Amino acid sequence: MCGIVGILGKQAVATDIVDALRRLEYRGYDSAGVATLEDGKLSRRRAEGKLKNLETVLSQRPLNGAIGIGHTRWATHGRPNEENAHPHATDKLAVVHNGIIENFRELREELIEKGRRFESQTDTEIVAHLVTVEMEAGKSPVEAVGAVLPRLRGAFALAFLFTGETDLLIGARRGPPLAVGHGDGEMYLGSDALALGPFTSRVTYLDEGDWAILTRHSVEFRDEKNRVVHRPTQIVTPSAFLVDKGNHRHFMAKEIHEQPEVVGHTLSTYLDPISGRVALPSTLPFDFRDLDRITITACGTAYYAGLIAKYWFEQFARLPVDIDVASEFRYREAPLPAKGLMIVVSQSGETADTLASLRYARQNGQHILSVVNVQTSTIARESHVVTPTIAGPEMGVASTKAFTCQLATLAALAIYAGRARGHLSETEERRLVDALMTVPGLMNEALKREHAIETLSRELSKARDVLYLGRGTNFPLALEGALKLKEISYIHAEGYAAGELKHGPIALIDEDMPVIVIAPRDGIFEKTASNMQEVAARAGRIIFIGEGGMAGEAGVHPMAEIAMPAMDPFVAPIVYAVPIQLIAYHTALFMGKDVDQPRNLAKSVTVE
Ligand code: F6R
Repeated sequence: MCGIVGILGKQAVATDIVDALRRLEYRGYDSAGVATLEDGKLSRRRAEGKLKNLETVLSQRPLNGAIGIGHTRWATHGRPNEENAHPHATDKLAVVHNGIIENFRELREELIEKGRRFESQTDTEIVAHLVTVEMEAGKSPVEAVGAVLPRLRGAFALAFLFTGETDLLIGARRGPPLAVGHGDGEMYLGSDALALGPFTSRVTYLDEGDWAILTRHSVEFRDEKNRVVHRPTQIVTPSAFLVDKGNHRHFMAKEIHEQPEVVGHTLSTYLDPISGRVALPSTLPFDFRDLDRITITACGTAYYAGLIAKYWFEQFARLPVDIDVASEFRYREAPLPAKGLMIVVSQSGETADTLASLRYARQNGQHILSVVNVQTSTIARESHVVTPTIAGPEMGVASTKAFTCQLATLAALAIYAGRARGHLSETEERRLVDALMTVPGLMNEALKREHAIETLSRELSKARDVLYLGRGTNFPLALEGALKLKEISYIHAEGYAAGELKHGPIALIDEDMPVIVIAPRDGIFEKTASNMQEVAARAGRIIFIGEGGMAGEAGVHPMAEIAMPAMDPFVAPIVYAVPIQLIAYHTALFMGKDVDQPRNLAKSVTVE
């Protein structure tokens, strides 16, 4: 994840900016940069690699400005070199950015037609040019940023510094967090309160869609409709700096809300949006063309990510997938194909059963590819190749952002396998890659349903049992929904393939039974609609999660409807994970449960 810092100071700020960036190192990065104004003139220094490289550059060519912005970059669009490092600049401004600008390709083409030239392969540079174009047309910096923000799609945070404007910084947030720190005649911007810790304990987080106009003595917050708004300032205690929850009450909430950002980073690790192709970060020690089938093993939520991936590998790459929970796999003495592939999925990389399955497969001559979040873990070390998830540390015991990052990684791998095996054309690959690129923005949209979800969760918190239904890739999501609800609210819940309803569970349906139906618009929606009617006919209480208006199309009147944005059905299980997680979170909250530390559960299960 990238890190953003901005300082309106009293004296030279470059050293303080680098110190603040160091506090964001935990987010991971591969290049860094700083820009400041000296006598109103913009100068920047950037370096590939770690902050010590930037410090060397700064010691050779110091920056003395008392206002500046800095950035640690986790390469998304373009390689992690100096050219692509932030800040990006024109003669009018410098900008740093975290996240993905989804429509950057069309905006880039528009700017090229206007004769703008680009120095980097980043999506960030288009923002610098768009604002510059507005300023050249006579707009002030504030007006220019106000004109450009609505044109950007996706999930991102931005900080701007303007030539000649020695008392102005602008920050904007749509998705990734951004905080303003209030000093004494000084003002700060940072990706989180941790970065601002040494400067101030008075912090105001921007709300979703907000942007902020900072001077040394004032800050004005505006919402996405450009209305001036008030945002509360919090006093952040020193201990909170160590494990920052941002402006959330729980890690789980923070981690659910972080998903547009971390899924964006994970996708950027695997996709090249300019070519529309999957570009794996490391060479695979096997060829997908040589495989007859894949074995996947994992536990819990990671297992459900694997189950969804089974659909993708079989559909895109025509590769049969054998998948089992690791605790079963390790003892069932499964015959494995010569030089086959085992994919191991684990957030912690330390789960005992998953590790034992890996070792069994290794002994049986399998190539081991692991999808892990903790790259220093045992599973990562014992694998032949690691395709990491870039979720950042997951503190909440219930897995949320690790799950969606696992899905993002597995989706990219399945597309890659499909191409390698000749089952996907270049056009199909591009369509799927483009669909994946919309995920961070769609997740952001999904998060806006939180209020509706909170209302329905109050009802749900009174239930004794809950049923989740889904078909296709949304069947494993139904299983994941039930697991999430069980583990943090302790309400008994079951996930079922919707088509299985009439083979047994329909006997449970009555007016006390909430049935959560996950039904995006896809080729089998009508089948799920029939299942909903079966539930409705038995007075079951339906909670419909699908595209707005579709419950009506299906002829049912749900007890509640979570209206999701339209999307390619391929990416639906990744985006629909958001309401599923929020339902569990808010239901548990109404019941007064400890959502971050549910009873009997541990974050990393290193015993059998
Ligand atoms: C559920 C959850 C667990 C884990 C499982 C595997 O919310 O977190 O089901 O998914 O224990 O853990 P990892 O992914 O660390 O192997």
